[in-house]
Amino acid sequence: MTIFSVQSTIFSRASVVLLSSNGFKRFSFASSFSSSAVYSPPLPKMKKRRYPIVSAVDIGGVTISRNDVVRDDDPTNNVPDSIFSKLGMQLHRRDKHPIGILKNAIYNYFDSNYSKKFEKFDDLSPIVTTKQNFDDVLVPADHVSRSLNDTYYVDSQTVLRCHTSAHQAELLRKGHSRFLVTGDVYRRDSIDSTHYPVFHQMEGFCVFSPEDWNESGKDSTLYAAEDLKKCLEGLARHLFGSVEMRWVDTYFPFTNPSFELEIYFKEDWLEVLGCGVTEQVILKQSGLENNVAWAFGLGLERLAMVLFDIPDIRFFWTSDERFTSQFGKGELGVKFKPYSKYPPCYKDISFWISDSFTENNFCEVVRGIAGDLVEELKLIDQFTNKKGMTSHCYRIVFRSMERSLTDEEVNDLQSKVRDEVQKKLNVELR
Ligand code: PHE
Repeated sequence: MTIFSVQSTIFSRASVVLLSSNGFKRFSFASSFSSSAVYSPPLPKMKKRRYPIVSAVDIGGVTISRNDVVRDDDPTNNVPDSIFSKLGMQLHRRDKHPIGILKNAIYNYFDSNYSKKFEKFDDLSPIVTTKQNFDDVLVPADHVSRSLNDTYYVDSQTVLRCHTSAHQAELLRKGHSRFLVTGDVYRRDSIDSTHYPVFHQMEGFCVFSPEDWNESGKDSTLYAAEDLKKCLEGLARHLFGSVEMRWVDTYFPFTNPSFELEIYFKEDWLEVLGCGVTEQVILKQSGLENNVAWAFGLGLERLAMVLFDIPDIRFFWTSDERFTSQFGKGELGVKFKPYSKYPPCYKDISFWISDSFTENNFCEVVRGIAGDLVEELKLIDQFTNKKGMTSHCYRIVFRSMERSLTDEEVNDLQSKVRDEVQKKLNVELR
């Protein structure tokens, strides 16, 4: 989903475009990195792989086997090995990782301003039902976020959550009324320095009772909206100091009214979160028809890139000590010192696309081959000939954040990309 320059929210603005538009656009570690992963024995045919295939992961004490998530037997399944291996990594639960440091700083804000009344969940499984991810939060049946092009499906009724809002309804049903849910979320997306198919969100939710707003003399929705804004403005100041901020009206299926908070940072307005007053139907479904609530969802990578000066989203996934050793528990806002910049290598590829071609599918093929060695993929030229055939030319930027790549290695990657796009995407190379 190419909606914002850094991933944080979905469903707003451009995301209102529905499926009919062909689903194109819309809306430490070292060893502990792999502590939760169990590697399968090296099979001969895997020898050439850049990364070992992970055969099982541990999510909150539950072992999930690869065969249950990466499935050849289900035509709906579109989860590649590279994504499966990220399940259970839980960067947000590492106190010395920028994502974990940021989560803790937000926790501190809520603990001290709401006397620990917000319950915290950061270990809920990212494998959820389509009901949890979409239906429970009123995402329309034809919303583009439901497409196979945008979301990772395990089977037709199970997905890797694409937002932490997937847990709102179940927590409400279980009787929780003020909570923060942090977790890894998954979206098929473009490739550049601010987009990665896995990132982290924190969801906040707060239910009010009639006593709360009656006293204020305000109508319940206005009361909740004002409380929400006050809470989030305080959070932004807690994280960024005294910054200029502004509220922008927007749309989410699960809130009304809905807003985005933007802060002025480095001479630009930056969208940091989506939020709003929860749709009454959601509360009603959990037996809370006499209440009102607010919710927000913020993208942790986006905030962390700004707070820690991290220039590329792939850094969050590196186990290179030159990165990991720069951050310490509780040290919010330490500025990352780039250790070196290795040269990029550009390769172009042109092909005639087919009707079913999508850029997200192409990105997935390239990531499957080059992993984190691909820095960016951009469409640099396209045209349609007289016969109605459309050609796309993409520039792929290969660059490692850890070392120089050799010509041979890059040529090898590019030739694999050429082979696989033909096989998997039904395109004709030019
Ligand atoms: N779930 C939304 C997203 O990912 C963010 C959000 C959460 C917006 C809660 C409003 C309320 O884009």
